[in-house]
Amino acid sequence: MGDEKAPFLEVENIKKVFGHVQALRGVSMNAYEGEVLAIVGDNGAGKSTLIKILSGVVHPDSGSIRISGKEYRDLTPKKAIEAGVSTVYQDLALGNTMDTASNLFLGTELTKGGFLKKKQMQEEARRLIDSLDIQIPDVTVPAGDLSGGQRQGIAVARLVHNGGRLLIFDEPTAAMGLNESNAVLKLIKKLSGQGYAVIIISHNLPHVFLISDRICVMRQGQVIQELKTQETNMDEIVSMITGAVTADITGD
Ligand SMILES: Nc1ncnc2c1ncn2[C@@H]1O[C@H](COP(=O)(O)OP(=O)(O)OP(=O)(O)O)[C@@H](O)[C@H]1O
Ligand SMILES: [Mg+2]
Repeated sequence: MGDEKAPFLEVENIKKVFGHVQALRGVSMNAYEGEVLAIVGDNGAGKSTLIKILSGVVHPDSGSIRISGKEYRDLTPKKAIEAGVSTVYQDLALGNTMDTASNLFLGTELTKGGFLKKKQMQEEARRLIDSLDIQIPDVTVPAGDLSGGQRQGIAVARLVHNGGRLLIFDEPTAAMGLNESNAVLKLIKKLSGQGYAVIIISHNLPHVFLISDRICVMRQGQVIQELKTQETNMDEIVSMITGAVTADITGD
């Protein structure tokens, strides 16, 4: 899948050096709407650096980024979000004392005559949360009192509310228990089913195999393989991550 339609995101030959460390050595990859792309790789492979570049937090030394066919040379976090690229960071930056609706409408509050339209925001929050199957029984409960998975749900709903088309998750289930992880994975799958492009970074290969359509393996600042999830298996991916089978599979 994905190969026939135009990519939402096209990354070409991105390089980035930090001092003596060549974090990215010419990375190219595409992300498509309606598809979950998993980026895997060992510690230090360059995954987070790539994501930070895509979200405008870090500037690449060279290479090109196209979003919806438009080239962005000096991406900033603001420009990335305007272009529809939204990243869910580990630190979710939710207002803990604020309820679901207030978090969703942060910066885009509905007002009339200088007053917050609280009821309308709560109703809209309810609709959005329900449409994403996020389990939050009461949208008036402060975010700080919700579980990790529910909080992640609010962070995602906010990106959707703000018009994101590509949602990027860096280790979304790292600190979560089974139920929480499952809820977040289900949400990610649902988003791709609704047509969003999704990129997920994860060290958890069972999770990767559960939800991804394609897997991009990075090692030492390079993409060494891109595969359809259905056409590979966990052993093969582990070998690629560790480098055990480089010679056979890169071969070009
Ligand atoms: N701001 C920085 N200054 C110096 N070196 C950096 C900086 N950011 C990343 N690096 C280096 O670049 C390399 C890639 O780091 P990156 O965080 O992208 O790896 P990663 O694949 O996300 O690893 P992990 O799985 O551990 O999160 C590492 O060697 C790291 O030390
Ligand atoms: Mg990282």
